[in-house]
Amino acid sequence: MPITVSSSATAPEKVVADLLAVPVYAAARKSGKPVLGAGCDVVNRALGGGLMRFIDEAGFEGKPGETLAVPTNGKLAAKAAILIGVGEAKKGTLDGLRRAAAELAKKSHTVGTVATTLLDVTPDGVDRAASAQAVTEGALLGAYRFDTYKSEPKPSKLKKVVLLGKSSPAVSAAVKRGQVIAGAVAWSRNLQNEPALVKPPEVIAKLTQQLMRGKGVTVKVFDEAQLESMGCGGIVGVGQGSEQRPCLVQMSYKPKGATATLALVGKGVVFDTGGISIKPADGMDAMKTDMSGAAAVIAAMSTLQELGVKCNVIGFAPLVENMPSGTAIRPGDVLRHRNGKTSEVLNTDAEGRLILADALALAVEAKADAIIDVATLTGACVVALGEKIAGLMGNNDKWNAEVRRAADEVGESVWPLPLPPEYEKMIESPVADIQNIGGRWGGALTAGLFLQHFVSDTPWVHLDIAGPSRAPSAEGYVQKGGTGFSVRTLVEVAETFTKPRK
Ligand code: BES
Ligand code: MN
Ligand code: ZN
Repeated sequence: MPITVSSSATAPEKVVADLLAVPVYAAARKSGKPVLGAGCDVVNRALGGGLMRFIDEAGFEGKPGETLAVPTNGKLAAKAAILIGVGEAKKGTLDGLRRAAAELAKKSHTVGTVATTLLDVTPDGVDRAASAQAVTEGALLGAYRFDTYKSEPKPSKLKKVVLLGKSSPAVSAAVKRGQVIAGAVAWSRNLQNEPALVKPPEVIAKLTQQLMRGKGVTVKVFDEAQLESMGCGGIVGVGQGSEQRPCLVQMSYKPKGATATLALVGKGVVFDTGGISIKPADGMDAMKTDMSGAAAVIAAMSTLQELGVKCNVIGFAPLVENMPSGTAIRPGDVLRHRNGKTSEVLNTDAEGRLILADALALAVEAKADAIIDVATLTGACVVALGEKIAGLMGNNDKWNAEVRRAADEVGESVWPLPLPPEYEKMIESPVADIQNIGGRWGGALTAGLFLQHFVSDTPWVHLDIAGPSRAPSAEGYVQKGGTGFSVRTLVEVAETFTKPRK
């Protein structure tokens, strides 16, 4: 990432920068006034006094991400000053800080260096280090752009963000962590945003091998023939309609002395046409991001060593292209998965669960203590929870709660959905052990129930990210297109993982 973030104890009036950004809190009561935050006194003096009046006249309320430029009459070492709204002081959250930093990064795309006292905004129960990490993530992700294919890209000029205030080793380390995590999210977004034309399964496998060099993660790639002999009929079956051969990427991070093993599994459909049960043309282009789960898992794995994660983490990314052709699987075909179970393919567009089935079975075989799978699995989940919230299903209340805690912690929205035993009937097949679709209603749940057949009694969480994996428009630190959703949750889970009690 081209932007560097650093911390400095230089006083706000003395810092040499293109822009000095200082926080303003929103009023706690409707009739109240915004409250000036750290460094506002300096901006007030440069203005010649009357900052509150200036704010009032401009109608500036201090809402999260709101900004207001203030004239400084050449009185500061910084060339210009800007107020950045951070919302009510009492309602502050780390995610609010991320959003404020993102707006700041967007507003300053025309300048080179921004110095800010935003670090002095430490929400309740949060230390400066946590704030520093959040500001770093927000600034870097807010500045993210995907312009690979623009003949005349207009990159942000922002090169440097300086976090003012008392520095410490903890703050510097937190900035570094924020950079590593934002870098991984950006890697995931880039791969999501790339056209399917340039990211066939084997290319993603190669990119993964390159990414993991020097990252303490070993990568094994299983090709179609190997998958065939391994009994991974789901991956081979879904992949057989495409000219692009399917493969499975297996990643493994094993730090010295680790005992607990976490498994991450990500759906990697590089393009989902629906196969023979072909999708309508409208919006099909969005299906280039049907590999978002795989991208998130790969990206998360790439951070583990740098973040000093202490548990074993194994990752599985089954990669296929779902295409209709003379070699494609048909409705009514039966596939045999890695754990021996058979599934009747009644709709070739319900392909994600077919490839995840093999990967989940492999995670169980690898003796994972707990599993998380991430998948753009069902439109039904988007109907249920909208475009910003992922569905969380699982077979173990404690593990469900732990993944939910991690997601809440990093500001990624998830909400629990059930796996109702009484809906099992919906995926009973007259021919095979189970069938790959359930019927008109409860599609996210029957997809989850299907996956459950492949996790044995290992604690397992399934995140259906069909909604939040991509954004219809830019907002806060999210940009239009691939969002990198779930990378930060997976990293947070890995950082705190210990063997769950079953
Ligand atoms: N990749 C899609 C799910 C999806 C839909 C992701 C919208 C993102 C946005 C998945 O493979 C799919 O096609 N699911 C079908 C399942 C159905 C055939 C049972 C769906 O949701 O319609
Ligand atoms: Mn599909
Ligand atoms: Zn799909």
